[in-house]
Amino acid sequence: MLVVASPVEVRELSRCARKSGRTIGVIPTMGALHDGHVSLVRYARADCDFVIATIFVNPTQFGPNEDFSRYPRTLEADLELCRSAGADLVFTPDVTQMYGPTAQTSVRVSKLSLPFEGAHRPGHFDGVSTVVAKLFLITEPDRAYFGQKDYQQQLIIRQMVIDLDFGLQIVTCPIVREPDGLAMSSRNRYLEPDDRRIASEIFQTLLLAESLALTSNLTASQISVRMQERLRSIEGMELSYAEVVDEATLEPLTDRPLEAVALIAVRVGTTRLIDNMRIRFSNQSP
Ligand code: PAF
Repeated sequence: MLVVASPVEVRELSRCARKSGRTIGVIPTMGALHDGHVSLVRYARADCDFVIATIFVNPTQFGPNEDFSRYPRTLEADLELCRSAGADLVFTPDVTQMYGPTAQTSVRVSKLSLPFEGAHRPGHFDGVSTVVAKLFLITEPDRAYFGQKDYQQQLIIRQMVIDLDFGLQIVTCPIVREPDGLAMSSRNRYLEPDDRRIASEIFQTLLLAESLALTSNLTASQISVRMQERLRSIEGMELSYAEVVDEATLEPLTDRPLEAVALIAVRVGTTRLIDNMRIRFSNQSP
């Protein structure tokens, strides 16, 4: 497995792989890898001939009061996980290699970036779409792999790929969960043991939404209220949002659609956690 920090060198290696007829898969990450990331590398390995994982803690997607400086950096362990999951190349640029001193261009996916995480983390998605666009331009992949856990992020990246004619396929992979249902996240390592127990209630609330959609005749907005009530009742948890929304536009739903996505964001201790579940409604009228 190659480990390369230079964008120019990575582009050359990717072009070389393409010239020899190989398909290229990329997995953009910020490191602190866990089994969720490992599963993305494995999906790419199964689909593509040349697998590139990228590890870059992107400063432009962190707000001034967020955790950029304390974000976990575990490069040696990350490289080992990439190697064992079958990556061919890991791209590990530093900030100066990704952003020159005169950098002033950014990519904004206007509408999808506004609600939910966008409203709570102003500028976050501009940082994400800009760095992902740069990673696509450097690695020139056929396919790029993202986790469903960052549901809004993968929708935004899909829209960016369409709008900017990147001509590559976005593959959204299932959420990998701990045995108690907590979605794997690099930020879970910030959780104290008590917080960790409280955090598992997020998944229970998503299961509640799923079951209400299937077994009651509540509308999407009524299910949102039930989720909010449940999360507000949990001591040690601060609700940011809990909504059942349109799975493509993230717009509010008032009736009972066929399918939707339930989105949750909460703060537990000092850690902000997000999760989601795609849900189906049974064929009952409200
Ligand atoms: O999901 C992440 O880890 C990051 O937002 C990404 C896509 C690697 C961009 O920095």
